[in-house]
Amino acid sequence: MARVATQKLSRERAKELLSKVEAEIQGKSQGEVREAVTKLLRSSVPTYTWVGIYLLKGDKLVLDAWSGPSPTEHTEIPVGKGICGFAAKAGRTEIVSDVSKDPRYLQCFSSTKSEIVVPIIADKGVVGEIDIDSDQIDAFSLVDKEFLEAVARKIARYCV
Ligand code: SME
Repeated sequence: MARVATQKLSRERAKELLSKVEAEIQGKSQGEVREAVTKLLRSSVPTYTWVGIYLLKGDKLVLDAWSGPSPTEHTEIPVGKGICGFAAKAGRTEIVSDVSKDPRYLQCFSSTKSEIVVPIIADKGVVGEIDIDSDQIDAFSLVDKEFLEAVARKIARYCV
């Protein structure tokens, strides 16, 4: 019988990865931190197919760093548009378990099945966000949400 692999992030693994993120940040410039974190997240969690960091510039989200199989055409997203723009406007994490059922969704990759967008919040409010696409349906749980919100808090001062 075929094995059903969920590959979902466990709490133990999330804790371990958060320590890795902390270690990765040491001694790096702001841009290097953002670059390194997208790479680390993507290479560490099998369900994270594409990982990007957008920075808020005026009323637009501008793609800053990404790691994944291919580039996205959505390098600039107006606040309020797409899942990304919605999360930035609301200032809270959005999880879409099936992107084909969400009318807000802006498609980047035809293989994407689910998505999580986590705002990066500094003293002045939302300064950017972590956007992750998964080729697996319903890939993101409360564990991913809490983990990525912790990552966003750690990198906030590298995004201002
Ligand atoms: N799907 C996003 C757009 C960004 S790409 O996923 C990289 C959205 O709906 O806002």
